[in-house]
Amino acid sequence: MHGYAMSILLLGQTLEFTADPFHAGPGAARHDPHGAVLIDGGRIAAVGPADALRAANPGAQVFDYGNALISPGFVDAHVHYPQTGIIASWGKRLIDWLNSYTFPEESRFGDPQHAQAMAEMCLDLMLAQGTTTLCSFATIHPESVDALFGAAQARGMRVLGGKTCMDRNAPDTLRDTAQSAYDQSKALLNRWHGVDRLSYVITPRFAPTSTPEQLQALGALWAEHPDCLMQTHLSEQTEEIAWVRSLFPKARDYLDVYEQFGLLGAGGLYGHAIHLTERERARLLETGASLIHCPTSNSFIGSGLFDMPGLKAEGQSIGLATDIGGGSSFSMLRTMAAAYEIGQLRGTPLHPAFLWWLATEGSARALGLGDRIGRLKPGVEADLIVVDLASTPVIAQRAARADDLWQAVFPTIMMGDDRAIRATWVSGRLHEPRT
Ligand code: GUN
Ligand code: ZN
Repeated sequence: MHGYAMSILLLGQTLEFTADPFHAGPGAARHDPHGAVLIDGGRIAAVGPADALRAANPGAQVFDYGNALISPGFVDAHVHYPQTGIIASWGKRLIDWLNSYTFPEESRFGDPQHAQAMAEMCLDLMLAQGTTTLCSFATIHPESVDALFGAAQARGMRVLGGKTCMDRNAPDTLRDTAQSAYDQSKALLNRWHGVDRLSYVITPRFAPTSTPEQLQALGALWAEHPDCLMQTHLSEQTEEIAWVRSLFPKARDYLDVYEQFGLLGAGGLYGHAIHLTERERARLLETGASLIHCPTSNSFIGSGLFDMPGLKAEGQSIGLATDIGGGSSFSMLRTMAAAYEIGQLRGTPLHPAFLWWLATEGSARALGLGDRIGRLKPGVEADLIVVDLASTPVIAQRAARADDLWQAVFPTIMMGDDRAIRATWVSGRLHEPRT
């Protein structure tokens, strides 16, 4: 990493959304084929035409990226960094997948050295893919949270995360209690929340792995710290939903379990949210909760087809995520492609503007960070990526036939990977120059 005393000017194509394109239409974007982004003190100072910004800032250090696209860094709203090592594990559905692959690996994260090595690997893989912010589950071990935040701090990244609490239906090595989950989460929150660019997220894994007492304790902690987010899983697979029904027979539905224990509200992040009832949808909307779509995971584990068009049309807040390691790629490009494919399977092709917005501003808004990251706008933190829209021969020949920006971007969405990420800027510093 390099530090720069002077202001920095990135030249390339720029693209700014003027509103949520799902509601305002795909035209709610400003595209400048000869644009520039001025960075000063780690924030975006100006966005405008290259010529004008160059003339106005003769002292700025210039990085000319030609006709590559300058975009906000991707925001991955649901990740399990401790599952980096078990990505692409074959053949199981959710509950068996957790027991066979996930829990044995997560049991290793009480070892601070293992936790640190995996946190660093995960964040470096993310940055290489153009992801500058992620919201991650850790494991039950407080050391795993320290490792994540330490690695984020060393890279200057805005990262959110928390200790994954479980006090039943998990191996001995991965169980805490209602009291220790509360105490350890609170201690971690006090240690990390608001330090540098870090945010603590209260994290009950999901209803089946917590007793009512633990859910209650974490609901109480959230009530004491309403400025924190809370993340969990909701209605991912049909077998899981049946299990929740048998564990909580008095609850009206899966979401009601969370609501009974104070775990539903604005600032609540609900991963997957595929098989929702009408009542659950209405409550999620009323309370201002956010749903996190994890499309590569949903096809990899065989979970189902998220109703993006219907949920957006009714006004839900939705973020996009890889769900590493249930998800099968670190790339938010690949994740956008999977969201497109799931849209097609539901009969609705999602416009590339919708996909790009979801991976940047949409996820940022879902995490309550819409004013800080995810946009090309003065005052926003300078987490930026430079995307080569011709990164492989097949993408290049397809993009060359494009008549407009979105046609030029779509081949990269569908076929792109880390080769498309020419540079990643984190808080106004170049992380990985690859020119
Ligand atoms: N539900 C509870 N835990 C998990 C997890 O680690 N991954 C996925 N995909 N779903 C979950
Ligand atoms: Zn998850």
